[in-house]
Amino acid sequence: MTRIAIFASGNGSNAENLICNLTYGRVVLLLCNKPGAYVLQRAQRLHVPTVLFSREELEDPDHEHSVLKLLKTHKIDFIILAGFLWKIPADLIRTWPQKIVNIHPALLPKYGGQGMYGDRVHKTVIENGEEKSGITIHIVDRQYDHGHIIYQESIQIYSSDTPETLALRIHILEHLRFPKAVDDYLKQLFKDPAV
Ligand code: GRF
Repeated sequence: MTRIAIFASGNGSNAENLICNLTYGRVVLLLCNKPGAYVLQRAQRLHVPTVLFSREELEDPDHEHSVLKLLKTHKIDFIILAGFLWKIPADLIRTWPQKIVNIHPALLPKYGGQGMYGDRVHKTVIENGEEKSGITIHIVDRQYDHGHIIYQESIQIYSSDTPETLALRIHILEHLRFPKAVDDYLKQLFKDPAV
């Protein structure tokens, strides 16, 4: 069985959806950097163990409670970022090559990068008069919102759309597509029918 860890910082609707709907693997750990984030309650309700970590624990692999050591202790095979805002350090990327994915609420390579998250993305997309936006699921590398794209889907932007309505429609699309896109990628990556 593919052992999956999810990193999330906030509300966690995607994390919950993945916990419930991934079939090619199981979410065995939820890691969060924000005390009190709602995602912690969602995971606990579903009996997924949660861990709160600091920036030092993420960035220093030699830290007594480093995230790297924790992931190894839990024998994590694959990592999903679902609304996680900090940069993933190089040692994690080296340890899980091609095995960390992120979801972004726009059509990368446009509207990504540091500071481009949440409502800012949708506001900028609308201000620029784009006709389409969408979702992108990509491999995580050393640059924000940059690695190889494994899934992308677009939606039309209506003249009546506001950043709020666009955010809502994109969130719904994420919920519909994220688990299946990850399952398909995992199948390719691990090619192990005995899950
Ligand atoms: C999603 O829109 C995702 O694309 C972005 O962060 C948001 C997380 O939403 N990376 P939620 O916390 O899963 O509801």
